[in-house]
Amino acid sequence: MPEIPFWEPLSEEALEDQRHTYDRMRAACPVARSPRGVTFFRHADVLAAARDPSTFSSEVSAHRQVPNGLDPPEHAAFRAAIDPFFTPDRMRALEPRLRLTARAAVSALPRDSAVDVVADFGYRFAVAAQSEWLGWQGAEAELLAWMHENHAATRSTERSRLAATAAAFDGIVSTQVERRRRLGSAAPDDPTTELLSVCVNGETLSDGDIVSILRNWTAGDLGSIAASLGVVIGFLATHPEVQASLRAGASDVARAIDEMLRIDDPFLVNRRVTRAPVEIAGFRLEPGTRVYLNWTSANRDEAVFGDPDAYRPDEHASKNLVYGEGIHVCPGRPLATLEMVVAVEELLRQTTSIALAAEPRSERETYPVGGWRHLFVVLT
Ligand code: HEM
Repeated sequence: MPEIPFWEPLSEEALEDQRHTYDRMRAACPVARSPRGVTFFRHADVLAAARDPSTFSSEVSAHRQVPNGLDPPEHAAFRAAIDPFFTPDRMRALEPRLRLTARAAVSALPRDSAVDVVADFGYRFAVAAQSEWLGWQGAEAELLAWMHENHAATRSTERSRLAATAAAFDGIVSTQVERRRRLGSAAPDDPTTELLSVCVNGETLSDGDIVSILRNWTAGDLGSIAASLGVVIGFLATHPEVQASLRAGASDVARAIDEMLRIDDPFLVNRRVTRAPVEIAGFRLEPGTRVYLNWTSANRDEAVFGDPDAYRPDEHASKNLVYGEGIHVCPGRPLATLEMVVAVEELLRQTTSIALAAEPRSERETYPVGGWRHLFVVLT
């Protein structure tokens, strides 16, 4: 068997333009290894791995992560407990409140001058919307400060700083949980309180698992919503014809957002570890190999989408991997979509134009996320 070619995902060159580096890798060597693990770049390989959890295990971390770090059969019971939080009925009931949140966030943005829609809109709106959903009103400032510190800690790659931010987050979550336990039957009627009485295999969840689930619903997702909003607003600002069609109500907003995220997926990778020998693209992986499923690359695979930058929402919807695939497919997708739809609708309703600002210069984000770090636009 041939040796898997080597690449350096954290080289300056790769970080400078992640998406196009992945495009080149996918064409030149669709499977590549680095000291961190083996990356799959092609749609077919990413899909096959995501659909085969017995070979590609999600138990990649020393810490228990619920449900994303669980394998079958344990995983299914937790998903059955979590999925009911995101039903269409629940999302319909939540929509008016999130719309008001979006309306206020858009109203607060300046007009006719450059504004960074990642920091000043994406992060703020994500925190406000998630707090509204979970019943964490009042914790927004603390969450926002935490997001900024987490971002800086991730970038510093200092282990002690990362451990401190993780502990700080668990502190924020635990405060919410403990308050509801203290209040007992007087606890607010919200998803956080509801989680306390959820049963898996006939037993209520342990505090550790509750914190892990809430961490998943907040820490990870605030970042992905903020990054995704940056990508979507960036696309609108650079594609006036798409912006006009959405303003005219001529296209489906949710589907449009999915396609913009396919073209520039800011949720770069998820990890797996092999449990059995497996052959992929002509290479053999031994058991225990760390694997990265590169969603950003898979979503731009020419073999599936033709020109990766061609905007064709209806045609590409069924192959879109922005929310993953298989048993770990994103349970929060309905909520993420609702949040982004109301945000985009409010932005369009309150403006006549969204355009890129000439100054300051926008900046791309780098690993472990994609999209924009700072995106300056002018709202009129
Ligand atoms: C634009 C925003 C979002 C994107 C792009 C996104 C993307 C993804 C992807 C690709 C996965 C698959 C992970 C894997 O296969 O290992 C995933 C899983 C997950 N997502 Fe999301 N997500 C988003 C928002 C959310 C939100 C708002 C929530 C909840 C409030 C959420 C909760 C989760 C959870 C709990 C999992 C793990 C599921 C499991 O392991 O069974 N996500 N997400």
